[in-house]
Amino acid sequence: MRLTRVVLRDFRNWNSLQWQPPPGPLWLVGENGQGKSNLLEAIALPAQLRSIRGATDREMIRFGASQAEIFLAFEEKGEHHEVGLRLQPGGRQMHKDGRPQHKASALVGFLRVVPFQPEDIALVAGPPALRRRWLDVLLSELSQPYLQQRSAYEHALRQRNALLRQGSYKTLAGWDEALSDAGAAVTIARLSVVVQLTGLLQQLYQMLSGEKSQILVRYRSSWLSPSTVPPPFLEARGELQEGLRQTAALERQREVTLVGPQRDDVALLVDGHEGRRHASRGQQRLLALCLRLAEAKLLAERYQDPPILLLDDLYSELDEVRQRRVSAFIQRFEQALMTTTQHAVAEKGTVFFVKSGTLHSLGDG
Ligand SMILES: Nc1ncnc2c1ncn2[C@@H]1O[C@H](COP(=O)(O)OP(=O)(O)O)[C@@H](O)[C@H]1O
Ligand SMILES: [Mg+2]
Repeated sequence: MRLTRVVLRDFRNWNSLQWQPPPGPLWLVGENGQGKSNLLEAIALPAQLRSIRGATDREMIRFGASQAEIFLAFEEKGEHHEVGLRLQPGGRQMHKDGRPQHKASALVGFLRVVPFQPEDIALVAGPPALRRRWLDVLLSELSQPYLQQRSAYEHALRQRNALLRQGSYKTLAGWDEALSDAGAAVTIARLSVVVQLTGLLQQLYQMLSGEKSQILVRYRSSWLSPSTVPPPFLEARGELQEGLRQTAALERQREVTLVGPQRDDVALLVDGHEGRRHASRGQQRLLALCLRLAEAKLLAERYQDPPILLLDDLYSELDEVRQRRVSAFIQRFEQALMTTTQHAVAEKGTVFFVKSGTLHSLGDG
């Protein structure tokens, strides 16, 4: 898919933008603090419905303005679509192909983007919660049932934790079934994506780094037997129930559910060593980029259509050889928006200049 029109009003430092981006690789060139990352954040918002920089809606509304608007038109397999989002103090308003939507889930998977930003190094080097969230966002885009299973799980978990805090142990067991049903489904879905990721990451990492390193992705769980293939549902559910039984005394003491997918991790191993602790910064950064490109490949396969890449400060920490390899790979996507502060962009693509929340093409004078 590709964007054909981007309209912003009062989003961050973008007072008013009307832009018709061409297909192919697009370079957004500008000094620091001009609005490049803000523009990518705006485009990702109607797709993922949360800020890729973790900002609140209030933070994204332009200083002094009362509301922000994002309107995006895009083409998918020759069909024209539109999505609109208004951020205002009373909440969000969403439109999909001109019709108002009240549920965020209606927009999931509609416009598909894959963002990458320098902070994504935390996907490799940071705590498990970030990898879980990444996996959850990806799975929600890959499968509608996942979204439902996950909210069912979250609901059961919240209820259960509340009962543990109140010491209402009698009603606690009533939630164990819902928790282990949804928990098993969520975990199996995660494991099946992890299996696909291993092969993809290995391929991407070797191609972009030119190294022969072996990359493995392992799902780490305290309650599920280690396995490289997703277990059958009844088995996973049984193990989660067993885990609940084993931690019953301890969870009453700690007043929180101690087993389940909310505590699991996805380990990335580089030549057998935990990437989080042992990989160099350069390896971690490239691995983070590979995670995003693997995400893009999975989405492309699932929808038979490539997502739009939003790559922020892509080249800031890559050497020239790797820049060229990444650039060659990106040509396969219908559209990729990339930001850089380097004025002399040697790579292929259309160049736009970003200055104080305005966009100019070379011909604008
Ligand atoms: N809500 C907002 N209203 C107006 N300006 C904002 C808002 N949030 C951030 N900015 C401004 O956006 C600029 C940073 O833009 P950013 O897209 O991060 O720059 P870069 O081009 O380096 O990626 C800063 O000057 C900041 O003051
Ligand atoms: Mg930036």
